[in-house]
Amino acid sequence: MRKADILTKKGAWLLAAFMLAAQLGMAQAPAALMPLPADVHWGKGRLSLSKPLKLQLDASPDPAVRPAVRRLLTRLQGPAEPATGPVLQIRYGRVGQPEKFDEERYSLRVTPMGVSIDAPTSLGVLRALATLEQLPVLEKKQRYLPEVDIQDQPRFAWRGLLIDAARHFMPVAVIKRNLDGMAAVKLNVLHWHLTDDQGFRIESKVFPRLHTVGSTDGLYYTQAEVQEVLAYAAARGIRVVPEFDMPSHTTSWIVAYPRLKSNDSTYAPYTSWRTTNVAIDPTRESTYTFLDSLFTEMTALFPDPYFHAGGDENDGRNWRRTPRIVAYMQANNMVKADGKTVDKHQLQTYFNRRVLALLQKRGKTMIGWDEILGPDLPKETVIQSWRGKKGLNDAAKLGHPVLLSSGYYLDLNLSAASSYTTDPLPPDTPLTPAEQKLVLGGEAAMWAEFADSTVLDSRIWPRAAAVAERLWSPQAATQGVAEMYRRLPAVSAELETLGLRHRIVPDRLLKQLAGSANVAPLRTLAEVLEPVKEYKRHFQGYTYTTATLLNRLVDAAPAESETARRFGVLVDSVVAATGSAAGRSSATARQVATLRTQLLRWQANDVLLQPQLLLNPTLREYAPLSTNLAAVAKLLLERLTQLQTGQAASAAWQASAKKVLDVAQAPAGQAELAIVRAARKLAGL
Ligand code: ACM
Repeated sequence: MRKADILTKKGAWLLAAFMLAAQLGMAQAPAALMPLPADVHWGKGRLSLSKPLKLQLDASPDPAVRPAVRRLLTRLQGPAEPATGPVLQIRYGRVGQPEKFDEERYSLRVTPMGVSIDAPTSLGVLRALATLEQLPVLEKKQRYLPEVDIQDQPRFAWRGLLIDAARHFMPVAVIKRNLDGMAAVKLNVLHWHLTDDQGFRIESKVFPRLHTVGSTDGLYYTQAEVQEVLAYAAARGIRVVPEFDMPSHTTSWIVAYPRLKSNDSTYAPYTSWRTTNVAIDPTRESTYTFLDSLFTEMTALFPDPYFHAGGDENDGRNWRRTPRIVAYMQANNMVKADGKTVDKHQLQTYFNRRVLALLQKRGKTMIGWDEILGPDLPKETVIQSWRGKKGLNDAAKLGHPVLLSSGYYLDLNLSAASSYTTDPLPPDTPLTPAEQKLVLGGEAAMWAEFADSTVLDSRIWPRAAAVAERLWSPQAATQGVAEMYRRLPAVSAELETLGLRHRIVPDRLLKQLAGSANVAPLRTLAEVLEPVKEYKRHFQGYTYTTATLLNRLVDAAPAESETARRFGVLVDSVVAATGSAAGRSSATARQVATLRTQLLRWQANDVLLQPQLLLNPTLREYAPLSTNLAAVAKLLLERLTQLQTGQAASAAWQASAKKVLDVAQAPAGQAELAIVRAARKLAGL
């Protein structure tokens, strides 16, 4: 090739790269910000971080601000004193009140002379600091802040993360580091799921049996620990909304106080995961006396004006099978249209109204899962939609404030893209402008049947950051899934420096599983595995209890495999290029070469790994996945040769390839190969 040709090619490449970057509006974006701010203008200058920034903060009525700045500066530059560098000037108007949805707006400017943050409230300052933390760029071992002018404010006021601390108890340290993660991506509500069938995880001084006998492990938060978490969250501008899930999901309550139960059964602490439909008795006055005392205690502990009363997954079987309760429903005309069949939904609505009254008496706004929606439910109740977008829209149309969680369930192990493309108010929303105002925002939800305190971080992060961006950034500022994935690794790295253990824990588990053997082959397999999706893990022949350790290969597998995702992107681009003139371009040749290297590695891995898998009883169940990975790699290598030589695949080849891929799709040990869909595409099947 002549030198001129190389130059032309290189020039064409640069131009293409530039055009792509320009298209994505990131031609000059030196830092990966997430969530994307409403308005960003990058300059050409830079501010060196070689000297410690000097804080200029004159009046600061909010005691949270100074420590937040100090934490940031320590992470940015170390505990350097005295600060001799450029000025970091912070100005704000008043103390922000997160529980009143106070303003989080801020402006952040970096010039070669210094940094300035301006905000109407201290909440805005905290959000600006989160942005500032994502700005530093490393170049030739020197760190600098790029010149930038940012004007930012959230799209939705309620941006939550639900952490289930009931199925597996999550110690205070775990909650705290996740609060740090939330603050980093501007999530502002911790929805703390404190009670469920398997445990009542908060100390009650009024009803101490709740936390002492409700679970088999006896783990709970003391009220002092709750205060500690509340203070930690408040210092980061995060509200804490407790959930006491009722009338169902209450086996732990009933074990502790059998007078709450609806029938004559005897209950022991529940150690399985499946929904019980056990429910407390809504027909007895003593139930409300109990709740009244419990709420007196718990509403005083939690300052947030919202209080989550659950309400999900009660099919009413406890009520319908108890003659006394059936008689109550009949006597109170809680029957369906036929005038005879008792209607558990009406009884639950009655229960909700009673609970609502108890909470309103204490100035609290009640939140419930979408099952509680019904024509008789008072409008001030907030509905949290988890069973589908319909719940959200129906509730808003009935005049309820609403939260979206459907689409944001992290425990289903779906992709960040699937959450990212779920919008509470998409362009085709059926809601009127007035109804749209009722959409407060949404919450990512991390249910903990398959996440203990060790695994939790890796099931939340980094995918929750994609939800955070969807809820914070204006629709117009976000530019699609590929652009989100481009920035996600940087956020993931940031979260790690903040103390999240989402990367280190899976890797440590792999090392444990490998024992004295080289961990690399196991890592190669684990990198392309994902846990089975949705609720399938409950239904694949492996019996889980609250005592089952979550330390198998499936627990080290990422919820979304980055290796498989990148493989998919590469496959898409090679397949798109095939057949076109560009198919023979050097770019495609390079991509094909990258694919080939990857496939050769996967093909060779099985020989190294198979003996380890077979010799280790805890790994043996995963042996088929390694075999299948090698088989898929082998057929894709053949396919690449076909593509490169312009050979058509024979019918026999296609038939055998299809067989290999069908086999490779089968999960083992509740994990599955995450590359199969892309493999089918490349194979042309
Ligand atoms: C729920 O996931 N049962 C609210």
